[in-house]
Amino acid sequence: MPKVDMGTTNPPRLTRTTEAFYGRRSGNTLKTQQVAVLSGLLPALKLDLKNPPPDRLAALWPEPVSEIRLEIGFGGGEHLLHQARQAPGIGFIGVEPFINSMAKMLAVLETDGLGNIRVHDDDATQVLDWLPDACLDRIDLLYPDPWHKKKHWKRRFVSQVNLDRFARVLKPGGWFCFASDIESYVNWTLLHAAAHPSFEWTAKAAADWREPWSQWPGTRYEAKAVREGRTPCYLEFERLG
Ligand SMILES: C[S@@+](CC[C@H](N)C(=O)[O-])C[C@H]1O[C@@H](n2cnc3c(N)ncnc32)[C@H](O)[C@@H]1O
Repeated sequence: MPKVDMGTTNPPRLTRTTEAFYGRRSGNTLKTQQVAVLSGLLPALKLDLKNPPPDRLAALWPEPVSEIRLEIGFGGGEHLLHQARQAPGIGFIGVEPFINSMAKMLAVLETDGLGNIRVHDDDATQVLDWLPDACLDRIDLLYPDPWHKKKHWKRRFVSQVNLDRFARVLKPGGWFCFASDIESYVNWTLLHAAAHPSFEWTAKAAADWREPWSQWPGTRYEAKAVREGRTPCYLEFERLG
């Protein structure tokens, strides 16, 4: 495995309203249906970060939920929607600041009548800082923006400060699941997690990082990576108790 310089570990810039989001917020002109879900459904499903979370976080969903999972940067929502369909008894929080992607996901959610997804349309660090301690069973970070240039590595979502956030909100025995097709980001994540006392990489054999999780639907970025000849890698870290 190639060695990776972890770059400078600058402290978070507290003057920014968003700390870990550097991408685009909007793209093509939205279609009428997309505008409609953004004005109708988004306000209803968006977390209210101005007020503290409910005493029982499960109260965020209309039906009882036995687990709570967070997906950061869900893009087209393929994975989030698939998981929510497969497991109606699990509550999902999906975060995506790119408004065209949020609209796309919400349109499918509405058609499918899914009731177990809540959302946030901005930087995921805001949700992580809002959530109570030890409330999540799993965090998915799938194909995060790779920031190829070394001078931009400090923009990567995986960092010691964000692993501290993950460690605070995950239950002991909970999971941080990471997928990427970018070798330097995979190594970066392994090095950062290895340096963090609360996480353990659980892989025992090559299949554990070469094969996706069960009931894996793939994602848009994964399909692009495979088309372009890159190999996905799947890392699973346990939150130690
Ligand atoms: C490369 S795309 C991958 C999308 C999707 N997970 C997939 O595999 O197709 C990365 C996504 O992360 C989102 N993103 C970037 N920074 C973020 C942040 N700080 N909080 C939440 N989402 C973020 C981007 O808007 C983008 O949709």
